[in-house]
Amino acid sequence: MTSNLEDQLLALRQEGEAAIASADTLERLEELRVNYLGKKGQLGALLRSMGQMSAEERPKIGAIANTVKEAIQNSLDQQRTVLESAQIQAQLESETLDVTMPGIYRPQGRIHPLNGIIDQALDIFVGMGYTVAQGSEMETDYYNFEALNTPPDHPARDMQDTFYLPDGNLLRTHTSSVQIRHMEKEEPPIRIVAPGRVYRRDDVDATHSAVFHQIELLAIDEGLSFTDLKGTVKVFLQAIFGDLPIRFRASYFPFTEPSAEVDLQWNGRWLEVMGCGMVDPNVLKSVGYDPEIYSGFAAGFGVERFAMVLHQIDDIRRLYNSDLRFLQQF
Ligand code: DAH
Repeated sequence: MTSNLEDQLLALRQEGEAAIASADTLERLEELRVNYLGKKGQLGALLRSMGQMSAEERPKIGAIANTVKEAIQNSLDQQRTVLESAQIQAQLESETLDVTMPGIYRPQGRIHPLNGIIDQALDIFVGMGYTVAQGSEMETDYYNFEALNTPPDHPARDMQDTFYLPDGNLLRTHTSSVQIRHMEKEEPPIRIVAPGRVYRRDDVDATHSAVFHQIELLAIDEGLSFTDLKGTVKVFLQAIFGDLPIRFRASYFPFTEPSAEVDLQWNGRWLEVMGCGMVDPNVLKSVGYDPEIYSGFAAGFGVERFAMVLHQIDDIRRLYNSDLRFLQQF
């Protein structure tokens, strides 16, 4: 009886060690552990038969059973270490980066220089309390000219300059139309900045385009004066171009009185960069504002011109060609 059980235990140990040594996955190893050492495992089954043993035999067999259990447990631990390190090795190999592989080209998007200027200008004016306003590119004669105190015989209304649509409407020649659109809807005080596309019947060359961009400025309040206009324009221009000399030169626009053009000293030369003036009382009247109570100033400038000066661009058409070699410089 004793030797029979002892033989069985030793046989179990041999068989177990061999099976464990050849286990090739951690799942298989766990199956073997359950099979040999688990609650319903083979070692347990053998030990349950110890119940019928005599008191002298029991400790001896118990000691053997313990060494068998330990041996099988050791085999399990050893094989687990082997399998786990193989697993880590395989993972390391499959996840190794080959730093000599060619990279994946990911083109980087950039802000178009015109949008860059528009963003910058809006930021500056919003910082001064202005709100961004917009109008439509197709306009009526009234908003583009008449309400802006531009009489029918004014040269700006010439068929040469304006794109007229078959229905009698037109493509706005400037963003000044947004002034009227906005004032009609709102009451003073007003502080708006309005960017947008404008259209002129110009022959396209290095400095002219039939479609270009303007930014319009309008402030209406009680007691606004030319000083406010000068300060605002100066802060804006110096934020964009740097701390350069600026001069206001008397000029004429139908919708402002007095009117001025602003020049900027750039690389030693005076460059004309924007038009501006005090809003003409006739314009205020056209939207029902009382010029005895309200005054205001307006200004407008071309975005392309700013971009060309700032970035030393020699031909306006480069701004529209979508040539990546050009655009990637910004
Ligand atoms: N609308 C003018 C243009 O297209 C620019 C301009 C001049 C706008 C004076 C203004 C202004 O608001 O006050 O040439």
